[in-house]
Amino acid sequence: MVEVNLKNVKKAYGNVEVIHGIDLEIKDNEFCVFVGPSGCGKSTLLRMIAGLEDINAGEIWIGDKDVTDLEPVDRGISMVFQTYALYPHMTVRENIKFGLEVAKVPKDEIDRRVADAAKNLQLDSYLDRKPGQLSGGQRQRVAIGRSIVRKPDVFLFDEPLSNLDAELRVHMRIEIARLHNRLDSTMIYVTHDQVEAMTLADKIVVLQAGRIEQVGSPLHLYDDPDNQFVAGFIGSPSMNFLPGKVTSVSGSSVSVAFEGGVDELTVELSQNPPAVGDTVAVGIRPEHFTINGTGTKLSVRSDVTEQMGGVGYMHAYTDKETHVVAEIRGRITDLDKDNVVLTFDPKQSFIFNQTGARLR
Ligand SMILES: Nc1ncnc2c1ncn2[C@@H]1O[C@H](COP(=O)(O)OP(=O)(O)OP(=O)(O)O)[C@@H](O)[C@H]1O
Ligand SMILES: [Mg+2]
Repeated sequence: MVEVNLKNVKKAYGNVEVIHGIDLEIKDNEFCVFVGPSGCGKSTLLRMIAGLEDINAGEIWIGDKDVTDLEPVDRGISMVFQTYALYPHMTVRENIKFGLEVAKVPKDEIDRRVADAAKNLQLDSYLDRKPGQLSGGQRQRVAIGRSIVRKPDVFLFDEPLSNLDAELRVHMRIEIARLHNRLDSTMIYVTHDQVEAMTLADKIVVLQAGRIEQVGSPLHLYDDPDNQFVAGFIGSPSMNFLPGKVTSVSGSSVSVAFEGGVDELTVELSQNPPAVGDTVAVGIRPEHFTINGTGTKLSVRSDVTEQMGGVGYMHAYTDKETHVVAEIRGRITDLDKDNVVLTFDPKQSFIFNQTGARLR
């Protein structure tokens, strides 16, 4: 069993605290993804687990061992970096087995592990090439191969695909998912690409400014975000937010006048209803809009539509210039661009209060 447990972990550089007390449990065999905007502390947190950064407070457990004060080599982890850091003068085979030779693993065992990794990563026919003779994706596979042969308990990945072009990223993303299925090992993966996070993760940890905003499965975060930050971060294109004001509250039934709204939006908020006059934000996902359908109406002026073939992304503005994106299936014809009525089901909208907390 290889769980990873962070207990009130903190990190400061000088007087500046960048990780503010993180508690997190990652289960055995789980694929856990850290996401968040640049500078939120994803790499720092991963490097703390790897033992490449000291921590200022808290404990890190891997399996049943407190590794807080252990050296990286004694933690049973292996890390794959964004820059592959291969040795250019060594062949693929030599690169993959280098760490095992240093660790004095017997030769036939090394050969067996290298052959296994090469087969898993489809590198068999490249073993005698040098890194300079490989594509970016092949180099990244060599870096992963070097990690696999060490048979770590936990794999750590820091944006391993961000140097690859779009097509290769998709390909390698699927490779990494297969690898996880095959190896049955705990993986912690950092990315700021939320598509990678959605498709790879069993569990996503959304970070902002050194704190956890929410932890959950991809669809849980998508369907049931705790706050406006997570709602806006998970999902592509992002959720739309329209400023609004509460006009009436009757039991759990709450009416909101919102920017661009033709009529008021009425929703059921049974857990934490706001008060009349409160400022709120109304959140609507692009795919929950239709044109001239049923439900609550939003009046906008359409600007550019990105036509993807199967769907189109209509970029539009309210009369107060709030940007709205609507995902429209099928072809849009006969559109009076200055007078578009977007419609949505109130049950699919989200309400956030002024602090960004979700009202349910
Ligand atoms: N060696 C250092 N000295 C001082 N501050 C640092 C150091 N390393 C990182 N930081 C700060 O710690 C914070 C977290 O950085 P980190 O590299 O973990 O972010 P990140 O989430 O990985 O961002 P990115 O997506 O850009 O890689 C940032 O504010 C950064 O400026
Ligand atoms: Mg980083």
